[in-house]
Amino acid sequence: MQIIEPLEQQGVLVRRDRDKLEGEIDRFFLIESEGNVLGCAALYPFPEESIAELACLAVNPFYRDGGRGQRLLASAEARARKAGFKALFVLSTRTTHWFIERGFAQADISRLPGRKQSLYNYERRSKIFMKGL
Ligand SMILES: CC(C)(COP(=O)(O)OP(=O)(O)OC[C@H]1O[C@@H](n2cnc3c(N)ncnc32)[C@H](O)[C@@H]1OP(=O)(O)O)[C@@H](O)C(=O)NCCC(=O)NCCS
Repeated sequence: MQIIEPLEQQGVLVRRDRDKLEGEIDRFFLIESEGNVLGCAALYPFPEESIAELACLAVNPFYRDGGRGQRLLASAEARARKAGFKALFVLSTRTTHWFIERGFAQADISRLPGRKQSLYNYERRSKIFMKGL
């Protein structure tokens, strides 16, 4: 929460309902050091489409630029591949180049899983990035 709350306030991450987040905590994975959480990310599966969403990727600002974001992404890719998913997608308003430089390509809303398309928040105007696994 210490990492994602400020990012929600800045509009970098979409605000997640706290009860829902607690219920979905198993989807999250972390980088920890001496009891401190340095970074986190979550994977949301869409089994019907064999695709998974990488969400909530965030690194504590004091620990950025040390490859931790890259490690979280690599871990997400490995987990998704192991679970049999064919692609990863991410919705982001600001961190576009970071994903492009790591093999993602911008995609149209029609490429999103059906359930995600109906929830897609046009107001937020997130860009959609996709990467085959
Ligand atoms: C994106 C984020 C997770 C990267 O974490 P990190 O630990 O700094 O990542 P890495 O160390 O692996 O990569 C750092 C590199 O990415 C670059 N970078 C950081 N943010 C960037 C951005 N928004 N756009 C382009 N490049 C970016 C850094 O300049 C650095 O480049 P260098 O390696 O050439 O010096 C982190 O900046 C963050 O938490 N951002 C806020 C949350 C967010 O935007 N999440 C993504 C949307 S879900």
